[in-house]
Amino acid sequence: MLNGIEGVSTASGSVNIAMYVVYGISIGVFSLVIGTMFYFAYKYSNKRYPRNKIKNIEHNTPLEVVWTIIPLILVMIMFYYGFSSLKALRTIPKNNMEVQVTGQMWSWKHKYPNGKITTDLYVPVGKNIKLDLTAPKNDVIHSYYIPAFRFKQDVVPGYTYYAWFNATKKGVYDIECAEYCGIGHSAMLAKVYVLSQADFDAWYNSDKKTPFSKKSNSKLTEHPGLTLIKNNGCTSCHSLGTNVLVGPGFKGIYGHKVKVKEGGTLKEVLVDDAYLKESIVEPNKKIVDGFSGGMMNSYKGVLSDDDIKVLIKYLKSL
Ligand code: CUA
Repeated sequence: MLNGIEGVSTASGSVNIAMYVVYGISIGVFSLVIGTMFYFAYKYSNKRYPRNKIKNIEHNTPLEVVWTIIPLILVMIMFYYGFSSLKALRTIPKNNMEVQVTGQMWSWKHKYPNGKITTDLYVPVGKNIKLDLTAPKNDVIHSYYIPAFRFKQDVVPGYTYYAWFNATKKGVYDIECAEYCGIGHSAMLAKVYVLSQADFDAWYNSDKKTPFSKKSNSKLTEHPGLTLIKNNGCTSCHSLGTNVLVGPGFKGIYGHKVKVKEGGTLKEVLVDDAYLKESIVEPNKKIVDGFSGGMMNSYKGVLSDDDIKVLIKYLKSL
């Protein structure tokens, strides 16, 4: 979770400096004000300072000039470092790889120039990555935040924004949603995997969904369907048990009959392969009674037919 806390993008250096400068000045001013306050409280305490010696000072021009000029200089220093770090974050280098990012309730989707789509982001180390960020028109405001790269960009539905980074260190870092966007907000997380150019190319030019699709020893015991569920953010809204989050829990649904609403009419359907597949590809067609539609976006193109088969196989086993 604290991976990359030191800042691991080319722009993070200037953001760090801006933070230290503002932090340093704040500590200095705070100490000065509080220190002076304690000193005066001691020196001019009622016990030590005779009342008849108190004078009412009306003006001190040199002092007033000093306490105007010094803060002005401090604010200009903060502005300088703030502005130069903002400039580093907003000036996008020409040679870049462009990734389309969509934020929707409650997951992120990354689409690469060659059409690959992933929920986590995979990038080569030391390359300029430009992000085009958007949210579907009927969605809500999200904010794409990678603390390790020191940038955060609000995403308002229907508009496109941009951000960029150049990661300087291989590793896995957090992607968060930094704008409260409803019940699944806290689960709207993803990872950015910064890979070596060779590892990235090997994946990018393969037909693997993710660079870790087929190896990863630690996941040997995990059902591939469960991996898909985790990687696609399904568990933000569906529990693997019977408890209800945003949508129904997955446990025990297969083979049972449920009441669903289709186009306003209530009907009963059997939860089988065909129904589950339909619900993944067209999630708003048949809504289970008691739930509201429009909460889930289609996974068409995100999950292949084979993925869906594996996923359903896993749901069957629950
Ligand atoms: Cu999306 Cu919070």
